[in-house]
Amino acid sequence: MVSIQKITAREILSSGSTPSIEVKVVLDDGSIGIASVPFGASAGIHEAFVLFDGDKKRYGGKGMLKAVTHVHKMIAPLLVGKDPFDQKAVDTMMITLDGTPNKERLGANAILGVSVAVARAAASSLRMPLYSYIRKTLKLRIPGYVLPAPMMVCIEGGKHADQSTDLQEYMIASFGAPSVKEAVRKGIESYLALKSVLKSHAYGVNVGNEGAFAPAGLKSNEEPLQLLMEAITKAGYVPGKDAGISIDPAISEVFQEGRYRLPKDKKQLDSAGMIDYFVAWAKKYPAIISMEDCLHQDDWDFWPKFTKRIGDRVLVVGDDLTVTNPKRLQKALDTKSINAILIKLNQIGTLTETVECCMLARKHGCVTIISHRGGGETNDTAMIDLAVAVNASFVKVGPSRGERVEKYNRLMEIEDELEKKCSFIGKEFRLVH
Ligand code: PGA
Ligand code: ZN
Repeated sequence: MVSIQKITAREILSSGSTPSIEVKVVLDDGSIGIASVPFGASAGIHEAFVLFDGDKKRYGGKGMLKAVTHVHKMIAPLLVGKDPFDQKAVDTMMITLDGTPNKERLGANAILGVSVAVARAAASSLRMPLYSYIRKTLKLRIPGYVLPAPMMVCIEGGKHADQSTDLQEYMIASFGAPSVKEAVRKGIESYLALKSVLKSHAYGVNVGNEGAFAPAGLKSNEEPLQLLMEAITKAGYVPGKDAGISIDPAISEVFQEGRYRLPKDKKQLDSAGMIDYFVAWAKKYPAIISMEDCLHQDDWDFWPKFTKRIGDRVLVVGDDLTVTNPKRLQKALDTKSINAILIKLNQIGTLTETVECCMLARKHGCVTIISHRGGGETNDTAMIDLAVAVNASFVKVGPSRGERVEKYNRLMEIEDELEKKCSFIGKEFRLVH
C-alpha cells in the first residue's frame, strides 16, 4: 500500500506581487505532487477563508507564513501515513480537523494546497493525467471528454484596474470552431485586434490585474461592449457566431447603502433598476452570451426576477452569489436564481467539494464555467484539469500574462493528449437565443 510520506509548504509569489502558498506532497513510492493556490481581489463575502498573516511588517500583512505553518504543524501530522488515493477521505479529514464552516482555523489556502497536491501525487503514482485521476478518485460517471470553450477577459475595471470602468470584466468567449486550439486562436486574435481598436479611438492599452486592457477615459460602462464588437469584427469574425461577449460586473463591489453606484454613468440604481439596465444591454447586444454577478451576492429576491427576464437567451452566472458552495448553489437552483455557475477551487477550499458543486450543477442542467482569480494567480493549472474532468462548458481565464496563458497551454496540451477521444463544446455551441 502506497501512503503519504511527507507534506511541505512554502510561501511563493503570486501574480499580484503578494505571497501565495505552494504545497509539495511526496508519497512513499517516490511520487511527487505540487500545487499552488490563487486568491481573489473582489472575493465574495461568503467564500472560504484565505488566511493571511496580518503582520503589517511583511508584505503589508499579506504574508502566508501562518498557512505554511498550519500545513507543517497540523495538516502533515494528520495525513502522513494515510492513503493518498481516496481524495474524498483526505479532504474530509482536513475539513473535520478545521471544524469551522468556512475553513478559518487552518485557512482554505492551506487546505486547498494540500488537497490538490495530494491528487497530483496520487495521479503521478498511477501515471494518470490529473483530469482522468479526478474522475477516477471521485467516481464521476461522465461519458467522454467534451473540452471547454475559452472565455477571455479583454477589458477590465472595478477592483481590477484604476481609472477604467466601474464594472469589472468584459470578455470574449470564442466558439464556432472545430477545436480548442482554433477557438483559442480566435479569442487571442480578437484580443489583439482590440488593442488596435483601442489605439484607433485614442485610448491607452495599459492592462489591469488579469492582463485585460484597462483604458482610462471611457465614456460609459457600456462603451467596452461596442469596442469588443468592433474588435471581433476587425479580427475577421462574426460576433455571436464565432465569438460572443460575456460580462462580469462583480456588482457587489459597487453596492453601498442599498444602491448600486455607477459614477461612470452618473447613476445610482436599486435592484429593479439594475435589472432593467442589464436587460437593456442583453437586448441591444445579441452577441452577449453570459452575464455574471449582475446583482448583489445576497439579493436573493431579485436574482430570480433577472433570470426570468433573460435566462432563456443568456447565461445568468452566479459567482459571489454561489461561491462554489454546494449549499448556496442548491439555494440558487431551488429559487431559479441562475442557469450557470462560476467555479473557483479556492472559493470552497477542497477538490472534493469543488467537484461536488460542479456535479450538482451538471445534474440540474446548470452550465459550469471554471475560473481563474484576479487578486493573485499562480502558474498552477489545476483549474484546467478540473474543467476537463467535469466537462465544464467554459474556462474563464486570460488571454494574456504568463500565469493566464499557462492555463490555455495546458488545455491545448490535453486536447493533443486526448486526440480523437475528445470533442470540443465550441463545435456545436449555439447561442441560447
Ligand atoms: P476575483 O475576480 O478573482 O478578483 O475575485 C474574478 C471574478 O469576480 O470572477
Ligand atoms: Zn465574478
